[in-house]
Amino acid sequence: MRTFEKICDLRAFLKSQKRSDLRIGLVPTLGALHWGHAALIKAARRQNETVVVSIFVNPTQFDDPEDFKTYPRDFQSDLAFCERHGVTAVFHPSEAEMYPTPSKTRISVPELTRHLCGAKRPGHFEGVAILVSKLFHIVQPDCAYFGEKDAQQLAIIRRITRDLRFPITIVSVPTVRETDGLAMSSRNALLNPEQRRAAAALNRHLQNAQQLLKSGENGLEKIKTQLIQRIQSESAAEIDYVEIVDAETLQPATAVDRALLIAAAVYFGGVRLIDNFSCNFAKKDES
Ligand code: PAJ
Repeated sequence: MRTFEKICDLRAFLKSQKRSDLRIGLVPTLGALHWGHAALIKAARRQNETVVVSIFVNPTQFDDPEDFKTYPRDFQSDLAFCERHGVTAVFHPSEAEMYPTPSKTRISVPELTRHLCGAKRPGHFEGVAILVSKLFHIVQPDCAYFGEKDAQQLAIIRRITRDLRFPITIVSVPTVRETDGLAMSSRNALLNPEQRRAAAALNRHLQNAQQLLKSGENGLEKIKTQLIQRIQSESAAEIDYVEIVDAETLQPATAVDRALLIAAAVYFGGVRLIDNFSCNFAKKDES
C-alpha cells in the first residue's frame, strides 16, 4: 500500500495506474475508520483495481471549532486498517496542501441544504462540497463511494457531480450498524456508557416510524410528533432535528406517495449523531 501527502505525487502514481487501464475507485473519509468505511472500501474493491482512500479532517466543513478539535484522529491505526482492507493508496494531505490559501470559491446547492443538517450547520455542506470537488479533480476516479447514513451529503454530491459534469459514477452504500442497530460513526467513540445506551434507541425509534408509514399510517405530522416524543423520552437525548422529507428533493414531505426519508440529528451529551431510514411509496411506473 502506498501513502501520499502531496497532490503531485498522488497524481503521478495515478497516471501510471490509468496508463495501465486500471479503474480507480475513491473513498473520501475523515479518518477514524470503522466498519462503515470498510463497507465502502469493499464496494470500491469489487468494482475497481485501484482503490484510493483519502483521510483528511477537513476544517472547512466543521461549523463548531470544538467538534473539529475533538474529532477522533488516529492515523497509524487508520493506515493499518486500510492495509488490512486491501487499499491501494492512502491520500493524507496536510491542511496547507488542500488549502494553500483560504478558498474564495464556493460550491453550494441551496435547494438541497435548506433542511436537515444543512439548516442546522451553516457552511457545513459548502465545506464538504469544495473538499469533495477538489478530491474529484485530484484523483479523477471512475467511481466514488459514499454512505447512505449521510443521506443529505450523498444527495448533494450526486447533484454537484451531475451539475459540474464530473465523469464519475457515484455509488451509495447502505448504512452499517452495530449489533444493537446504532449506525456506526467515528463519533460513537466519544459517548459515555449512558449516552451510548440512549444512542442505540435512536435507530429503534426511527425504525418504528418507518414501520408506521409502511403499515399505512399517512398522518406525517402525527408520526413525526410521536417520533419526537419517543426520542425525547431518552434521558441523555437532545433533539437537533427530526424531519420526514422527500428523499430526492429533501423538502418536507407532504404526502405518502414517493420515496421518503425519516431523518434525525440528536445530541447525546455533546456528541451529535445522525441517522435515517427510508421508505419508497412511488408507484412502479413513476420510479
Ligand atoms: P466520514 O464521516 O469519515 O465518512 C466517510 C464516508 O463513510 C461517508 O460517505 C459516510 O457516509 C460513510 N459512512 C460513515 N459511517 C457509515 C456507516 N455506518 N455505514 C455506511 N457508510 C458510512 O462523510 C465524511 O467523512 C466527510 O464529510 C467527507 C465526505 C469525507 C468529506 O470530508
